Amino acid sequence: MKFAQARFVGSFPAYSQVPKLNLPEIAIGGRSNVGKSSLINSLLNRKKLAQISKTPGKTRMLNYFVVQNDAGKEAFHFVDLPGYGYARVPAGERQSWKTLVEGYIENSARLKGFVLLVDCRRGLQDTELEFIEYLLLHKVKTLPAMTKADKLSRVEANDALREAACRVKLLGSGIHHPILHSSVKKTGNEMIWRWVIERINDES
Ligand code: GTP
Ligand code: MG
Repeated sequence: MKFAQARFVGSFPAYSQVPKLNLPEIAIGGRSNVGKSSLINSLLNRKKLAQISKTPGKTRMLNYFVVQNDAGKEAFHFVDLPGYGYARVPAGERQSWKTLVEGYIENSARLKGFVLLVDCRRGLQDTELEFIEYLLLHKVKTLPAMTKADKLSRVEANDALREAACRVKLLGSGIHHPILHSSVKKTGNEMIWRWVIERINDES
């Protein structure tokens, strides 16, 4: 199955305000500025579908994009989430991130998978590991994608991948082996697509 057409559906400040859309959802999450919106554009071969910024904290709401399959039928939603862990954000705003993202994860019946983006130069930190544990606790299948791989040499990128694989090994089932990714070079996009298709077709 090939996906090509996609369109922006809307931005919602709380999950309770998302209209009943009745399609499977794939969430894209991770630290502020890690490249979540870029990943959506890269996967869909679009330059400006999701808004990208050099300033962290650009995405503050649940942004929904609907993706059609090659038969032109609406097949699923990508949900671009606001990022976490941006130090300059005041405590109140951090709390509102938590309320928004956790409210989404705990209440969406259609969430089929979570692509967790990690900057491969930073690696999987305790924040990510705790977040993965939280996702698995809520039975959300997770794919860790070590992104911005174009910023590292091949050897460095492979080291980062190995390190990440070690760190997630003990977290049990529900987590995919980490992959290397670059939105610029489109590294790993095919693997993400394969996983996304598997997830949206999973009836369980
Ligand atoms: P917030 O919504 O603010 O949390 O950010 P985000 O995670 O959506 O990141 P965004 O896609 O806006 O990208 C942040 C910056 O990283 C931009 O300057 C992008 O051009 C850059 N970027 C994203 N992905 C990649 C990548 O794979 N390689 C490189 N070199 N730069 C990237
Ligand atoms: Mg964003």
